[in-house]
Amino acid sequence: MKAKQMQALIKTAPENAEIQTIAIPEPLENQVLIRVKAAALCGTDLHVYNWNMWAQNSGIKLPVVMGHECCGDVVATGQNVQRLQVGDKVAVETHVPCGKCYQCLNGEQHICNDLKLFSIHMDGCFAEYTVVPSICARKIPIQIPYHFGAVMEPLGTAYRSVVETQVMGANVIVLGCGPIGLFAVASATTLGAAKIIATDISDSRLEIAAKMGADITLNPIKDNVAETVLELTDQYGVDVIIDASGSVDAIGHSFKYLRKGGRIALIGLPNKALEIEIGKEVVFKEASIIGIHGRKMFKTWTQMENLLAAGKLNIKPAITHVFPLSQWKKGIDLALSGEACKVIYEP
Ligand SMILES: NC(=O)c1ccc[n+]([C@@H]2O[C@H](COP(=O)([O-])OP(=O)(O)OC[C@H]3O[C@@H](n4cnc5c(N)ncnc54)[C@H](O)[C@@H]3O)[C@@H](O)[C@H]2O)c1
Ligand SMILES: [Zn+2]
Ligand SMILES: [Zn+2]
Repeated sequence: MKAKQMQALIKTAPENAEIQTIAIPEPLENQVLIRVKAAALCGTDLHVYNWNMWAQNSGIKLPVVMGHECCGDVVATGQNVQRLQVGDKVAVETHVPCGKCYQCLNGEQHICNDLKLFSIHMDGCFAEYTVVPSICARKIPIQIPYHFGAVMEPLGTAYRSVVETQVMGANVIVLGCGPIGLFAVASATTLGAAKIIATDISDSRLEIAAKMGADITLNPIKDNVAETVLELTDQYGVDVIIDASGSVDAIGHSFKYLRKGGRIALIGLPNKALEIEIGKEVVFKEASIIGIHGRKMFKTWTQMENLLAAGKLNIKPAITHVFPLSQWKKGIDLALSGEACKVIYEP
């Protein structure tokens, strides 16, 4: 019998990506098949599309179905899958753990020693259907809209940075207002930060940050960020810095206005090394520097689900465009130009 077919956006070769009609995959014993209802475009997809150095060294084997952030309904389950049923609404956790290493056995699956990534080491979700390891299909409350479910992966990274830096009652600065920084602003608002400062070199992104809860927005091209932050904090500096810019410049400068005993969460991925004076900026300051790679599996998810289902995380302003998958190129062009923030495809 001929397999049923679907449309999928495939990176076929370094210089080509296109929609192809391919067979709907069948779930293996520990996988589930998902009918994708919404999938979100992420910076990583742009790297893959452009086939830059990062993509070339990422371990991707072409051809690959692009996309990793998605939400949909389970339509088939492998024979060993017990936790999920046909009809469940799920969002995908993109960190695929081995289940056997030290971290996996000690509550840190998200930083598994043999971590595999959905859409990098296996086909992704810019398609009508996708298969994922069942551990990565997270059943979410039915009240969470598909569009929100599709961005829970980047939202979770941002949300976790805010949890780990303990923003309640704190003065917080978020560096970079791409989707991740904006989600950090929304999360800090929900978790009770006192004052939220947001920075970006794009004024349109700062406008969105203000809609999502930032009290003060600063553009380092026009504003003196360090001076303003020190003025706003009685010259002490902020309690918390969250970097979602990946800018070595922004991170390097930020130590100047971190108060003694302050906390800094690093999410952004700079493309070069950062030099800092460890004695002055970290030791005598007793600064805590926390790297954030994805979401705790699954504590972060549980908290996000509760908040989203209760309508207490204001993430909508970051979703600027929605397209059918057939218009994938429009989404990529808008994201590359910086005009779009989060783009959603409906396959
Ligand atoms: N740690 C993780 O698990 C994880 C997961 C996903 C993405 N990331 C990284 O997080 C970062 C943010 O992701 P994103 O999808 O929001 O990316 P993005 O590129 O959309 O956002 C980065 C933002 O930073 C701004 N920016 C650049 N230079 C700046 C400066 N000097 N000061 C202030 N803002 C500046 C840009 O204008 C942009 O709006 C990226 O570096 C990405 O690679 C990390
Ligand atoms: Zn992503
Ligand atoms: Zn592992």
